[in-house]
Amino acid sequence: MIESVRQGGVEDLSSLLAEVQGRIHEASSAENLEQIEVEVLGRKGRLTRLLRSIGALPPAERPAFGQRLNEARQSIEALLAERRAEFDADTFEARLKAESVDITLPGRFYQVGRKHPLTVTIEEVKRIFIGLGFEMFEGPEIEDYYYNFQALNYPREHPAMDEQMSFYITDDKLMRTQTTAVQARVMEKRQPPLRILTIGRCYRYEAVDATHSHTFQQVDGFGVDEGISFADLKGLLLQFAREMWGPNVKTRFRPDFFPFVEPGADFAVSCMLCDGQGCPVCKQTGWLEVAGAGLIHPNVLENVGYDSEKYTGFAFGFGIERMPMLKYGIDDLRLFYDNDLRFLRQL
Ligand code: DAH
Repeated sequence: MIESVRQGGVEDLSSLLAEVQGRIHEASSAENLEQIEVEVLGRKGRLTRLLRSIGALPPAERPAFGQRLNEARQSIEALLAERRAEFDADTFEARLKAESVDITLPGRFYQVGRKHPLTVTIEEVKRIFIGLGFEMFEGPEIEDYYYNFQALNYPREHPAMDEQMSFYITDDKLMRTQTTAVQARVMEKRQPPLRILTIGRCYRYEAVDATHSHTFQQVDGFGVDEGISFADLKGLLLQFAREMWGPNVKTRFRPDFFPFVEPGADFAVSCMLCDGQGCPVCKQTGWLEVAGAGLIHPNVLENVGYDSEKYTGFAFGFGIERMPMLKYGIDDLRLFYDNDLRFLRQL
């Protein structure tokens, strides 16, 4: 049979099968398999031609040969399918590899921002005074000489202003030296009863060192009503000190001079670092001076048109920077303004 086929110019089935199986095994890609399939099983393929040549065989041999051809075809198709599956799996593996994310790499760390220690202090002070019935008010940083000094009972050329040299923009406009400047602005517009708090930047002509800065922040508060006495001021500042520095803090008032208050006081709290025992921060005194305060001078009330026989008032002013400095034992004011994250991150 084989002889007769070969004579018809058609190749030997067994060697064809062996060759094709070998090539399928060695194929290096799915495209390779495709080529082999076309070459062998296609319309003009080698196996197809064998099938067509069947007519050249004696009729008795045809069924057996036909069966062998079919078996060969099936075995080639099966082998092709098997190898294709392998290539598919390889491409899948390759894609997985290419697209995979290495979850073992450490993540990128984001810098988490935080509030500046002065902002935190300001928020705390606000929270306490708003809780005590105060209303917030903001004044301009470029202030009139009138509100910064004159309305506050500084006589012209008074030496108290020497401590508060400032940056003048014109003869009667300056960078405000104290937030106390807000007092007359509010009183002019409003009638008692008043409880006002203002917080903001102040400026003075100062050489910068560990305890001085040309720019700093102050909180200034005041109240005006009928029958206000020094007792109201003492009670108020004690309550503030307890909320700010703890329930056991003690307070001290000593006479001091500010043109806009009479009597005027220097307000101190027992040192929160040593509990009043004496330490380097309180210079062994046990006390920390934190504010100026007093009863509003009748001249200030009269300047804004209030009847100073009817109304009295209290006032107080704290430096903001000093609060976290005392709380954390920070000895250099400049740290708040240098923007050095190594410092700011710690608070
Ligand atoms: N403004 C004053 C200063 O900068 C502090 C001050 C003292 C404010 C007494 C007040 C006060 O309101 O009553 O030195």
